Amino acid sequence: MSNRPIGVFDSGLGGLTVLKEIKKILPNEDIVYFGDTARVPYGPRSKEAVKKYTFQAINFLMEKDVKAIVIACNTATARALSEAKEQYDIPIIGVIEAGARTAAYTTKNNIVGVIGTDGTIRSKAYEREIAKINKDIKIVDKACPLFVPIAEEGWANNEVAKLTAKIYLEELINKDIDCLVLGCTHYPILMRTIGETVGEKIILVNPAKETAKDLKKTMQEKNILNNTQRTQAKYEYYVSDIPDKFYVIAKEFIDQDIENVEKIEIQKY
Ligand code: DGL
Repeated sequence: MSNRPIGVFDSGLGGLTVLKEIKKILPNEDIVYFGDTARVPYGPRSKEAVKKYTFQAINFLMEKDVKAIVIACNTATARALSEAKEQYDIPIIGVIEAGARTAAYTTKNNIVGVIGTDGTIRSKAYEREIAKINKDIKIVDKACPLFVPIAEEGWANNEVAKLTAKIYLEELINKDIDCLVLGCTHYPILMRTIGETVGEKIILVNPAKETAKDLKKTMQEKNILNNTQRTQAKYEYYVSDIPDKFYVIAKEFIDQDIENVEKIEIQKY
């Protein structure tokens, strides 16, 4: 049993899609969230840059005395998860394994679509993870980088989002995919727009749900769940740039009042 918080981080707002699922199945757990808003997007950056940013975020969360960390960012998971797991002595969980597993067990025709940032798509991380489960599954992937600034801007359901989705996704729909992995944690914010674009025959896979389950399972195994009786867990939010916009969009997205968002100097870590 441990009453220390869980750390969750992303380049910006995207990780909130994972935080939302964690809150549902682990309502008793305190969470410290960090969004690296000064350096979003991670997607187009080099592997070395993403790795450096990821380690800085982990160092910041370690200072908050977290008992486990969720890298709620596909790009950072693809680029830095395996090294992070080796270097820190608390459980660190990414989002790709969970997403790959869900897709592998969802597809019926063995043609899976994967969308993500340039970095995630270039890394081929989903392809590798899905192949570990079923080598016969064919992957059709595509980078959709503009979805990230659209989500950060709070434009998830407007005409710009709809047109962008149409241009990006048309090609995938024509390749017979029967499920589509939202391989960037920002994309579930555009779930409605993406769903309407691809149509209801294509199942959308949001890795966040399975990631939250993986986290719970790991914490049970390590015996670090918070078993104290309480009415409300504590959530702290930190960003690396001006908090105003994050505050407004985050509040809307997680559908809960956010008391305070604090700006930190991430370069220090
Ligand atoms: N939300 C992140 C991901 O899952 C990163 C988006 C970005 O910063 O480009 O990949």
